[in-house]
Amino acid sequence: MSLDPRSMYRTFRSVVRFKPIELDPIERRLSGCADIEDLRRIARRRLPRGVFDYIDGAAEDERTLERNSSAFGRVGLRPNVLRDVSDIDTSVDFLGSKLPLPLMLSPTGYTRITHSQGELAVVRAAQRAGIPYSLSTMATRSIEEVAAVGPNVDKWFQVYTWRDRGLVAELVGRAKAAGYTGIWLTVDTAVLGRRERDVRRGYTIPPKIGPGTIVDGILHPGWTLDFITNPPIMFANVVGHDGHDEDGTDPISLAEHVMHSFDQALSWDDVQWLRSLWDGPIILKGIQRVDDAQRAVDAGVEGIALSNHGGRQLDDAPTPVEMIEPVAQAVGGQVKIICDGGIRRGSDIVKALALGADMCSIGRAYLYGMGAAGERGVDHVIKFLDEGIRRTMALSGRRSIEEIDRDLVEWRV
Ligand code: GLV
Repeated sequence: MSLDPRSMYRTFRSVVRFKPIELDPIERRLSGCADIEDLRRIARRRLPRGVFDYIDGAAEDERTLERNSSAFGRVGLRPNVLRDVSDIDTSVDFLGSKLPLPLMLSPTGYTRITHSQGELAVVRAAQRAGIPYSLSTMATRSIEEVAAVGPNVDKWFQVYTWRDRGLVAELVGRAKAAGYTGIWLTVDTAVLGRRERDVRRGYTIPPKIGPGTIVDGILHPGWTLDFITNPPIMFANVVGHDGHDEDGTDPISLAEHVMHSFDQALSWDDVQWLRSLWDGPIILKGIQRVDDAQRAVDAGVEGIALSNHGGRQLDDAPTPVEMIEPVAQAVGGQVKIICDGGIRRGSDIVKALALGADMCSIGRAYLYGMGAAGERGVDHVIKFLDEGIRRTMALSGRRSIEEIDRDLVEWRV
């Protein structure tokens, strides 16, 4: 031990490094986010409580929400070592497109509630990454606005079957005219799941302003300033048809809205009807059993998204990752299989592919990014998953998507 001040100073100097102060507040915020959970925590801090709960919450006891992600923890990885992994190729062919990643962005309703740019931010981020984006019928930006800012990326349009079939036909026609690649038909929302956080808060769309929301707004000044300095949020594609008044901005609950507009009689006949309107690819979103997957093949669709709507519809429904293998055994190769739900890491995507999925899709994960840091938050999420896929492949001895095989994974209890 030396008490010589010069020697002590030298040792001190050898370890002290002052980082330059990051002046960009968004960069500062994102640089501390090591995973999606970190983005979620920041989104919770920045968004009013009702808004955060609308995104974060799910049906009833939220058991399905929790299991969608935790089920990935039961899939163990069995890496091969000593394979040259200096060149990792994550590209994948998907329904006629060569994509850089086995990842796409799911439709999310009411996206502008997280940030004023809403779906425009999401499609721009998708375009930068070269991955497909599906726009929701319940979007807060129109089919044409999204096409205008994202002309060079695959865009899908998600359809809810409105009672007014003329409106659905019109929306599908608009998507075709605007150059969308295909349709996602959501099949799990004949009625709305009971999202009890929204029930408790009396959450409406748009949020009702009362003493509670005013205090909430004051406590979340960044979000509030962004909200009040931008045009009112509405369901941009269906104004006048969604249970709202002509203006599209009076507050009603999502459940009221769904009861007013959606057709509870939705059936396999509607899939045939949609087929007659649309000759491009159709994906059924919300398949949750092998027999329905087989029925989807018989109906002639090109893809199925194994999805329980992020746990927002039927609590205790099966989780997407647990459905992949039985569904792939029954219909793999006949339709594309998308795992939609619970993905929080690149390793989750690798596991889903190993079990037999062709593609993965995320919704909530990018909304946390939007809530935490707007458009750059979405970029951050995509980059995080991209790096995670590459790292998992390298550590597993898998150099291409084709090499991600069933032998890589095992179920662990
Ligand atoms: C819309 O699709 C929602 O789940 O809120």
